[in-house]
Amino acid sequence: MIEARQVTLQYQDDTLALQDVNLSIKPGDLVYITGPSGSGKTSLLKLFMGIEYPTSGILTVMGQTVKKGETAGIRRLRRSIGPVFQEFKLIKGRTVMENVMTGMRFLGMRKKDIREAAAYALDRVGLGHKKTSLVENLSWGEAQRVAIARAVARKPSIILADEPTGNLDHDNAVNIMEILKSFRDSNTAVIITTHATHLIGQEADAMYIRIDNGHLTINRRA
Ligand SMILES: Nc1ncnc2c1ncn2[C@@H]1O[C@H](COP(=O)(O)OP(=O)(O)O)[C@@H](O)[C@H]1O
Ligand SMILES: [Mg+2]
Repeated sequence: MIEARQVTLQYQDDTLALQDVNLSIKPGDLVYITGPSGSGKTSLLKLFMGIEYPTSGILTVMGQTVKKGETAGIRRLRRSIGPVFQEFKLIKGRTVMENVMTGMRFLGMRKKDIREAAAYALDRVGLGHKKTSLVENLSWGEAQRVAIARAVARKPSIILADEPTGNLDHDNAVNIMEILKSFRDSNTAVIITTHATHLIGQEADAMYIRIDNGHLTINRRA
C-alpha cells in the first residue's frame, strides 16, 4: 500500500531531509520509525500523506502517485489515512464527541453513522465515559486518545502517528502505544514514529525503520 523507489526529499532551502528511500509497506504492517530529532521522521510521514512531494524518485500510496498535479487524487487518498499529528490540535470549546465527529464530516457519511462510528472509536480508546466533556478539561493522555479516536473513527487503511507519546509520562505513553497497535488488522497498517526507543515493542512481525540524517535502515522481522 506504500511503495517508495529512490525517493529523495529536498526542501526549498536545500535541506536534504530524505535520501534514496526504498520501502514497501503492506496492509496489516506495524511499522516503527525511530531516529533522533531532525532525522526526517515527520518528513517521511508528510510524504505518505501527500503534504510534501518527492523531489525525485517514485512514491505511491494506496495506488496514488504522490507528486505535483495530483491534487484531486491526493485529496481522495487522505480519506483513507488516519493521521495523529501533533499540529492537528483538538478544537477547544467543543466536546470530545464533536471533535471525533469533525474528522468524518467530509466523507459523505450519514450523521447517524458518523455518530455511531465516533462513539465506537471513543469506546475503543477507553473514553466512552467522556463523550460530552469539553476537550480543554482533559488530561494530556486523554487528549491524545481523543486525537487517536478522531483518526481511526473513519476506519482508515493507514494510521500515521507522529511522536504520539510526546509530553506523556511513561505509563500513559505505553498505554498510547498499546491503543495504536490495537488498530492494526489485516487491512490496516499502523505506522508510528518515536524518538523514545524504549517504547518500541518487540513484535516478531513488525518493521523497524531507523532514520539517521535522512538515510533509512530497514529491519523487517518476519
Ligand atoms: N518545511 C521545511 N523546510 C525546510 N526544512 C525542513 C522543513 N521541515 C523539516 N525540515 C528539516 O528537515 C530535516 C528533517 O526534519 P523532520 O522530518 O521534521 O525530522 P524529525 O521529525 O525526525 O525530527 C530537519 O533538518 C529539519 O530542519
Ligand atoms: Mg518530527
